[in-house]
Amino acid sequence: MRRAVCPGSFDPITNGHLDIIARAAKLYDEVYVAVMINQAKKGLFTVEERIDLIRSVTADYGNVRVESFHGLLVDFCKQRDIPAIVKGLRAVSDFDYELQMAQMNNGLSGVETLFVPTNPAYSFLSSSLVKEVAAWGGDVSHLVPPLVLEALTSKLPKRG
Ligand code: PNS
Repeated sequence: MRRAVCPGSFDPITNGHLDIIARAAKLYDEVYVAVMINQAKKGLFTVEERIDLIRSVTADYGNVRVESFHGLLVDFCKQRDIPAIVKGLRAVSDFDYELQMAQMNNGLSGVETLFVPTNPAYSFLSSSLVKEVAAWGGDVSHLVPPLVLEALTSKLPKRG
């Protein structure tokens, strides 16, 4: 069975993430979405909320599994016999850091990283920008699934 992982913080999942997960799900038999826990980074959503949102918006994909993990991504891969990491590349600016992580992960365990060019419609999109725009009342309805929009609206304090 060919397995891959799409890792990230997913705070929250965006249409850009979903596009990469959907494309990975076409290429691999089983795709894990790994919500990596970073205790130094306080998120807007709890890890459980992020997982629930991802599970709901990927429910139509029969071969996508969602889990959280506290530790190194290579250990997540080792424990589940996953040989490949799939990452979206939005722009050249992503490449430097992504290359470092890919080389580090390969050096640590031999796991491969495959980069998928992001759909140009989402090349400017990040969870951080979505949160910032939404926090100031901007329209992000075209950037996140409806369920995530609902969750953002109820989570963010009203401003303005
Ligand atoms: O969505 P993000 O925050 O850009 O995702 C970054 C993430 C979670 C994929 C990366 O920080 C990661 O893999 N963290 C797990 C810890 C780890 O393995 N660190 C070493 C990376 S070389």
